Amino acid sequence: MEKFNIAIDGPAGAGKSTIARLVAGALGFVYVDTGAMYRAVTWRILEEGLREDQTEEMISLTRQSNIRLAPGSNGQAVYVDGQDVTGMIRSAEVTGNVSRVSAISEIRDVLTRKQKEMAAGKGIVMDGRDIGSQVLPDAEVKVFLTASVRIRAERRLKEISDSQPEVTLDQLMTDIARRDRMDEQREASPLVRAPDAVLIDTSGLTIDEVVHRILELAGSRVGGGK
Ligand code: CDP
Ligand code: CDP
Repeated sequence: MEKFNIAIDGPAGAGKSTIARLVAGALGFVYVDTGAMYRAVTWRILEEGLREDQTEEMISLTRQSNIRLAPGSNGQAVYVDGQDVTGMIRSAEVTGNVSRVSAISEIRDVLTRKQKEMAAGKGIVMDGRDIGSQVLPDAEVKVFLTASVRIRAERRLKEISDSQPEVTLDQLMTDIARRDRMDEQREASPLVRAPDAVLIDTSGLTIDEVVHRILELAGSRVGGGK
């Protein structure tokens, strides 16, 4: 089958990583979670103990760090300089700091370059915030996933209710709305729907329905219906 690239963007909890992974599996493509790369850099910066005003140090640390994604037993594994940080990059501390770190344009340049290299051979499904607009502007298929803040927070609550029973729906809604705002309002590659991205509101859709819709879209775009 002819190889092509699929760009999936959208706000936190819209279903990007779940759906991108399933679409990649169905097509035999490679899934790249760019949010995990921003989380890995943020983890490294926090680990180093850098203060919020040490922007230059954050940039050099990012340039020096070797971030690697690899298929793991439970989805995508993430390594920083050989250390497995897959679990640690999902901590509340990383989640609370990642939007601030990813607003630094030099850090975005380093990761964007790496992401473009990863997609050069085609056959990639990549998800993030700026994939259709900046990283893969020529992707054959572009999708922008969204859902209401409440639904996205309810989904997150379900995921963490066992491990973090103290977290409330209100807290998650506040956190998600804050991150949306920071990601949408930053100057460097903000979260934006590329003009040619197909909008899918996942609020009332099952995961399977969204996957099916994207596969249909891929079939019609790549199979000649473009
Ligand atoms: O999984 P979740 O939606 O919580 O977020 P993520 O995809 O892991 O991304 C974490 C953060 O990284 C986002 O809130 C953005 O600040 C940043 N990010 C970005 O700026 N650009 C990307 N291409 C991907 C993520
Ligand atoms: O990557 P992103 O932050 O956009 O979202 P995710 O981590 O893939 O999805 C957040 C949660 O929503 C997961 O638990 C998915 O199973 C769930 N989900 C859903 O219930 N229905 C959908 N249509 C899409 C995702």
